[in-house]
Amino acid sequence: MQLFKEKPFYIRHAEYLAKQHMTGMPPIGLTFEDVLVQPAHSTIPSRQSGHISLNSHVVGDVYVNAPIMTANMDTITEWRMAQEIALLGGVGVIHRYLSSDEQARQVKIVKEKTRTLQDKPFSVHPDATIRDMRRLQKELKTGYFLVQDTESNLLGIVTDIDMETTEDVSTQAFNIMTPRDRLITVPAGTTLEEAEKIMKANRIKKVPVMSSEGRVVGVYTRKDAELVRKYPYASRDNKGKLIVGGAIGVKDIEAEVERAYKLVDAGVDFIIIDIAHGDSENMKRMLKRLIKENIPVPIIAGNIATSEAAKALIGEGARGLKVGIGPGWACDTRVVAGVGRAQISTIASVAAVAVKNNIAVIADGGMRNPGDLVKALVAGADIGMFGGMFAGTEETPGKKIIRGRKFYKRYEGMASDSARRRAKNALNTIQTIGSIYEDRYSETEEGEEQDAPEGREKEVPYRGPAKEVFIYIRGGVRSGMSYINAYTIPEMREKGELERITQAGAVEQYGDII
Ligand code: XMP
Repeated sequence: MQLFKEKPFYIRHAEYLAKQHMTGMPPIGLTFEDVLVQPAHSTIPSRQSGHISLNSHVVGDVYVNAPIMTANMDTITEWRMAQEIALLGGVGVIHRYLSSDEQARQVKIVKEKTRTLQDKPFSVHPDATIRDMRRLQKELKTGYFLVQDTESNLLGIVTDIDMETTEDVSTQAFNIMTPRDRLITVPAGTTLEEAEKIMKANRIKKVPVMSSEGRVVGVYTRKDAELVRKYPYASRDNKGKLIVGGAIGVKDIEAEVERAYKLVDAGVDFIIIDIAHGDSENMKRMLKRLIKENIPVPIIAGNIATSEAAKALIGEGARGLKVGIGPGWACDTRVVAGVGRAQISTIASVAAVAVKNNIAVIADGGMRNPGDLVKALVAGADIGMFGGMFAGTEETPGKKIIRGRKFYKRYEGMASDSARRRAKNALNTIQTIGSIYEDRYSETEEGEEQDAPEGREKEVPYRGPAKEVFIYIRGGVRSGMSYINAYTIPEMREKGELERITQAGAVEQYGDII
C-alpha cells in the first residue's frame, strides 16, 4: 500500500479504469459491496472529538456541516425535509415536479425559517389598519410589523398580541403599537446572544437593532436565538438562513430559465440541473444558457458517470457534478436499459477530473448503509445524495398508509409508472410540468410516451423522524473518519484506501444476518 501513497485511491482507480479501457478488455467496475475501507493508524482521540470536521463542500462557496444531501424526488424532498435536514447540518434539494411558483414558495419557506438577524423586517405605515396587517401577515407569514414613516424613521412596533387584543379591525397601527419612546432597542454590533439576554430580561420577543444614525438595521427575535441554540450545526448562509437547493430541467429552456430565476428570487443557494442522462446536448444547451444569463448561484449538473462527461460539463460552467447512473433503490435503468456504471468506479472517475478543479462531486444513489457514504467519500465524493435511506420518514411528502396495524409511506423512482402518472395529472393543472417530466425520464419524441418505466415503486415502513436516520448516517461518517485518521471530509479521499473483497467477504460483513 505504501508504494502508491503518493496518489490517492480515487486517482489510481480512475487511471486503472482508463488504462484498462484502452486495452480493449472491459475493466472491473466496483460498487459499494465490492469494497471495504482499510483501517489505518489513527491519532484521532474520539469520534465525537471537536477535532473532526464534517464541513462538506456542496458547490461553489456553499458548504454545509455534514456530507448528507436529500434527493430531489417528489417522495423525498419538499420544504419539510429540506428544512429539517438543513437544521441538522445537511442540505435538501427541492424537486421540480411542482409548478415553478410552488417550488419557489417552498424554497422561501426554508429560507424564512430562521436567520441570525432579520435584516429586512416587514414594516407598515402608521395609518395601516389591523385589517391591512392581517392580510399582509397571511402573505408574509410574519408575527409583527415595524411601524415606520415615509422617511423610514422607526415609530414603533405592532405584534400579534397587539392585534389580537383589539377588536375593531379598522384600528390603525399608530393606535396599538408600542411607541418608539417605550421601545427597547439594541445598538448595531450587539450579538444575537447578548440581544437574547436583553429580550429575556425585558420579557419581549423581538428587539430592533439601531445604527448610530438611528436607522433600523434589522430585528433580533427570541425564536431565531432559540433555533440557533437548538441546532448548533445547522447549515446556514451568511445571514444565518438555512441552505437549500432547487432542481430544474432542460427541455423547455425558457420555462426552466424562468424557474431558475424564481428560485433565485426566493433565495435558493444553488441550482441542480437534473436529468437522467447529463452527458447530453440538452444539458449543454441549458448550462450554456444559465451561464450566459449570469445566474447568481452556482450550478450542479447531472447525472453523469464518466470522466469525459465531467470534463465536458465543467467546460460548460458546472461547479458541481451529480454522479450516478442507475445505482438507486428505486432505479430500474440498469435492468431496463442495460446501462449504468458501478458507483465506486463512477465516483472515482469523475472525482479524478473534478477535485483538481475544485468542482464538487455529489455521489447520488445506491447508499444503503452509513458505511456506503464513507466508501463514497473515500472514492472521491464531497457529499452523498440520499433517497431510499430517508424514504418513509415523517418529513417525506405524502401521507402515511395503514396496512393492518402497520404504517407505510410510498417511495417511488421518478421514472416509475406512478410518478409518471402523477406528473401527467399535474400536467392538466400546471402548465409547465409536461416538459419537466418529459425531459427527465423520456428520451422519446415530444409528447410520445416512454414505454419502459425506469423506476420502481414501493411502500416502505414508516420510519419516524428523519433526524434519526440523519444521526445514524452522520455517526457512521465520524466513525469511518476515525478509522482512517481523517480529520476532514476532503482528507478521507486523500488518505483512505479501498480494498476489493470477495463474495465471501461481502457476506461476512453482515455477521449473523445470514
Ligand atoms: P437512493 O439509492 O438513495 O437513490 O434511493 C436516489 C437517487 O435515485 C435516482 N432516481 C432514479 N433513477 N430511475 C432511475 O434510474 C428512477 O426512476 C429514479 N428516481 C430517482 C436519483 O438520482 C436519486 O437521487
